[in-house]
Amino acid sequence: MHLLLLESDRQQAMRIKILLQEEGHVVLTTSRGLDALEQIRSGQIRMVLVNQRSEDLDCIDFTRIARRMSLTDYLYIMILFDTFNQEQINSVLAAGADDYMTKPVNPVEISLRVKNAERIAAIDTRDEALIAMAKLAESRDRCTGRHVERVRLYARELAQAMWEMGIYFGQIDANFVDLIYRTAALHDLGKVAIPDAILSKSGKLTPHEYEIMKQHTRIGADTLASVMNQPSPCRFLRMGQEIALSHHERWDGRGYPNGLSGRDIPLSARIVAIADVYDALTSARSYKPAFSHSQAVQLIIDASDSQFDPMVVEAFAAVEETFDRIRQQQSDSSEDIVSHIRPAA
Ligand SMILES: [Fe+2]
Ligand SMILES: [Fe+2]
Repeated sequence: MHLLLLESDRQQAMRIKILLQEEGHVVLTTSRGLDALEQIRSGQIRMVLVNQRSEDLDCIDFTRIARRMSLTDYLYIMILFDTFNQEQINSVLAAGADDYMTKPVNPVEISLRVKNAERIAAIDTRDEALIAMAKLAESRDRCTGRHVERVRLYARELAQAMWEMGIYFGQIDANFVDLIYRTAALHDLGKVAIPDAILSKSGKLTPHEYEIMKQHTRIGADTLASVMNQPSPCRFLRMGQEIALSHHERWDGRGYPNGLSGRDIPLSARIVAIADVYDALTSARSYKPAFSHSQAVQLIIDASDSQFDPMVVEAFAAVEETFDRIRQQQSDSSEDIVSHIRPAA
């Protein structure tokens, strides 16, 4: 595994580096937090060991910034404390750290904890396989272009805003934000089982075809349930299942497949619902051109308390400019866009 050690004490750094290299890891070191963030951004690093205070950042600020970065793989963050109290432990965990240790580090303990981190990285790889499957489903759906990628970015932005604004306080933390980013990609997974004739049909679907299309919610959830057939299903699969099943439910109970209403709809699905609809509105369809960003914002705000959870709409209104930026950065290339397409699902 590629590790990065952020440590300002050279002797300590060398000691830990040698220890972990002997275990077969590739270990990079730096004494500056900003430099560490730069190295993480360039990819490859799967775990970072962060000294309580580096030359320029303390470990809480470092963790917060690292958790906000768009990384392909999960970054495991472990804090190395010189001295600590309960309040500091709570703060680093709330900022998104996975684990912590005290210095001087015990050689056996650090090697075992890094092994744990490796196990989590392996689970993450399995998760990525599911996400790859979701993207495969999307590739058959010729109208959607980069829909999955944008929806997960929008969902993360909403969740992050809700966390910062204290909306649904206690239900959203750094892990929830990371988790929704990864699981939102699974929302249309069930389209793998929808016939091509319907998935790539030009123009609007007939009512019967629409009923078949609606089944992608149950099929996606059932697919994930079959993978979850183990004693302790992980949070990734559980949230993925919630989202796949319920992202077309409506706050007023008029959605599908179960007609759930209000807070009976899982929070993750209420967030993805807005991300999904914003993307559908701002993308071209055979029966409509793409709405502008401001039109889409207005339509979503108007649907607060009917289609959407008003609290999630409040967060959406606070970060709509970021949605606009993501939309522009992640727009479909001309090759992705097929002019004759069917209704959004
Ligand atoms: Fe979708
Ligand atoms: Fe869908």
